Amino acid sequence: YLSQFIHTACCRVTYFAAKESLRGKVTIVTGASSGIGAGIAKYLAKQGCRLSLTGRKQDNLEAVAKETGLVESDILTTVGDIAKAEDRQNLIDRTMAKYGRIDVLVNNAGILQVSPLADVTEEHYDNIFNINLKAHVFLTKLAIPHLIETKGNIVNISSTGSCKPGTGEGIYSMSKVAMDMYTKVLALELGPKGVRVNSINPGFVPTDIFRRSNLDEASGGFEPDEMTKELTAATPLRRPGTPEQIGQVAAFLASDMAAFVTGEILFADGGWRL
Ligand SMILES: NC(=O)c1ccc[n+]([C@@H]2O[C@H](COP(=O)([O-])OP(=O)(O)OC[C@H]3O[C@@H](n4cnc5c(N)ncnc54)[C@H](OP(=O)(O)O)[C@@H]3O)[C@@H](O)[C@H]2O)c1
Repeated sequence: YLSQFIHTACCRVTYFAAKESLRGKVTIVTGASSGIGAGIAKYLAKQGCRLSLTGRKQDNLEAVAKETGLVESDILTTVGDIAKAEDRQNLIDRTMAKYGRIDVLVNNAGILQVSPLADVTEEHYDNIFNINLKAHVFLTKLAIPHLIETKGNIVNISSTGSCKPGTGEGIYSMSKVAMDMYTKVLALELGPKGVRVNSINPGFVPTDIFRRSNLDEASGGFEPDEMTKELTAATPLRRPGTPEQIGQVAAFLASDMAAFVTGEILFADGGWRL
C-alpha cells in the first residue's frame, strides 16, 4: 500500500509540475489581434505565460493585451506586417530586449481567400503563401537560436483544410499542407537540439477570417449564419470550435504535458475531417 501511495503521489506531483510548466514562459503569438490568436493569447496568459503579441491592427492588439489581464512587465505588443522581413526582425528584437529569452513561438497569423484553381491569379497565390507559410518559415528562422537556448517549442496553426479538399479552397489548403510538412521536417531537425515542433489543425471556428476573405464576391453573397449552420451540421460534434478551445490545445502542446510529443499534426476540429 505504501509503495502504491508513493507512486500515486509522485504521478500527481509530475502531473501538476507539467501543468504548471508554462508559468513565466515567454511566448510569441502571431495574429494575436483577432480570433484564434487572441484566444490562444488569453488562455496562455491564464496559464502564467509572459506574452509577446503581434498583429497589424494596433487597437485590436491593445484590446487583446488588456483582456489578458497581464501586468505591464508580462506583456509586449508589436504592431507589424509579418510578411515584411523588417517587421519580423523587429518582433524578435523587441521580445529579446524586453524578456531576454523566447520559450514558445505560436505561428498563427493567416488569411483565407477562395478561388477555383482554373481562375486563380498569381496575386492570390502569392498573398496566401507569403502570409500563411513564408512569413512563418522566416520568423521561425529568427527565433530558432533563442528556442535552442531555452529548449523551447513551436506550435504552428495549420488547418483541417490540409487533409480535406474543398472547392475554391485549393491555394489556402495547399499552404496548410505545406505548413504540415514544415512542422514535421522542423521537428526532425530541431528534435536533437531539444526543441519540439507541433501543429494544431483547427476545424470550423467562427472568427473574422471568413468576413475578411473574398467569400462574399466569390460566392455572390456570403451568409455567415448559413455557413455556420452548414459547417456545424458537417461537424460530428455538431458545434463549432472556439478560440479558447484552440488555446487549450496550444497550452497542452507548449507545456511539459506534451514533453514527448513532437512532429504531431493535432486536429482540433470536432471530428470535421472525418
Ligand atoms: N477560423 C477557422 O475556422 C480556422 C480554421 C482552420 C485554421 N484556421 C487558421 O487559424 C489562424 C487564425 O485564423 P483566425 O480564424 O483567427 O482569423 P482572423 O480572426 O482573421 O485572425 C487572423 C490574424 O492574423 C493576422 N494577420 C493576417 N495577416 C497578417 C499579416 N500580413 N501580418 C501580421 N498579421 C497578420 C491578423 O492581424 P490583423 O487583424 O491585425 O490584421 C489577425 O490577428 C489562421 O492561420 C487560419 O488559417 C482558422
